[in-house]
Amino acid sequence: MVATQGRERTSTGGADRVSLADEALITGGVLVPLVARGLLARWPLMVNLGDLVDADRYSVRLLLHMRAKYGRDKALLLRLAGRKLALVLDAEGVRRVLEGEPEPFAVANLEKRHAVGRFQPKGVLVSSGPERQARRVFNEEVLDTGRGLPRQAETFARVAREEAAVLLEFAERRGELRWDEMRVAWARVLRRIVLGDGARDDHAVTDTLFRLRREANWGFAPRSERTYKEFKGRLDGHLRRAEGGSLAALVARTPHDPEVAPYDQVPQWLFAFDAAGLVLFRALALLSAHPVQAARARTAIERDPVALGYVRACVLESVRLWPTTPAILRDATRDVSWGGGVIPEGSAVLIPATFTQRDPQTLPYADAFTPEVWTDGSAEESWSVVPFSGGPAACPGRDVVMLASAVFLAALLAGHGFRQTGGRRLSPEVPLPGSLSPYRLRFAVGAL
Ligand code: HEM
Repeated sequence: MVATQGRERTSTGGADRVSLADEALITGGVLVPLVARGLLARWPLMVNLGDLVDADRYSVRLLLHMRAKYGRDKALLLRLAGRKLALVLDAEGVRRVLEGEPEPFAVANLEKRHAVGRFQPKGVLVSSGPERQARRVFNEEVLDTGRGLPRQAETFARVAREEAAVLLEFAERRGELRWDEMRVAWARVLRRIVLGDGARDDHAVTDTLFRLRREANWGFAPRSERTYKEFKGRLDGHLRRAEGGSLAALVARTPHDPEVAPYDQVPQWLFAFDAAGLVLFRALALLSAHPVQAARARTAIERDPVALGYVRACVLESVRLWPTTPAILRDATRDVSWGGGVIPEGSAVLIPATFTQRDPQTLPYADAFTPEVWTDGSAEESWSVVPFSGGPAACPGRDVVMLASAVFLAALLAGHGFRQTGGRRLSPEVPLPGSLSPYRLRFAVGAL
């Protein structure tokens, strides 16, 4: 171990590595909580535990300390089970990594290929080279990426409104809204949008995918072939129906290169759509604790029921504050000069969004509910805020999911009041918690 400019470092062939003591702190305080909660499918018990001890607040403090110690422009280099890992913590670094796809920062990282590749072996997220390009083009075509409103916006909005109405009716009868019913309602929305109305009540297609995601949390455990077969059988059946008004219809009629494997793109859509249910439930908690913003959202719904600008901003704030992709991963395809040192070829590069999106030294609004940063564009300008990633591998489903989410939230809010009755309480008077479990949230529902 050598002392350099007053900092402790270990040398790894020209790269700067954090000290062993700091490596242990970062592993225990940042990486273990990330993995323990389930990267591909959450374990509610662990999420609830993280909520009780506010695990992400601790990890933000720890990483602030590490950044001050090692230098803002540095990547924190460590080793985990023999694998080299570089943590990137500042906005400029995030930009370099995300804009650096495919070279020198490849999106189809080793852990992702092992985990996500189990249920979508030819999915764009785990592909590289010309195959990746062809699959990316196909995803963008079907999902109408960057076009603002998807072609089937009207149908998608109708689906979101219908399912929100069913959920509201149930919650009103019971006098309470809980996660279990929210989960079921949102799964219906996503099955109808992706696979068509005929898939509305096929819980098994999303449940089997969830089981595969759970297995994949552990990365290297063998895949359950029975579960995969059942999932694929159901999925392919729905895709063959190609029901009008759904993404499945567009899958069937969008021309594509032979290497695309269209059906293998769809598990990612179902998987990623699912996360928006968590985002919406947390958005409800935010709005029920922030009456000023809730009033603005209701005004936006009345004034502009189609664009729903402020409601969208509330959804985006929810996913900024509690990102559903808490860690964005890349692999370094060669040695990369970085802050006077080197990120070695073959390292995994990790952007902890739970840190960058709550970095108080970069974002004046880090721990506050401020939908205004999305309506005035300032959040989009900062590379610290990347809930949908950025650069060539940015989420191509953003417009579809934002439309469905905003319409669903607006349908809940219009004419109804929500008062939080369970779970961690939020308040505009104090910084928002780093962790917020959606599974513990409950709301009393009543007409306004
Ligand atoms: C709350 C909802 C969502 C969030 C927060 C989200 C976020 C993200 C993020 C952060 C990535 C980048 C992952 C990485 O760099 O490793 C990503 C990729 C992707 N997302 Fe989403 N997503 C959401 C919903 C959706 C939906 C509904 C779809 C499709 C209908 C979708 C399709 C995809 C695809 C295909 C990729 C891979 C892109 C590529 O590798 O080029 N996402 N998403």
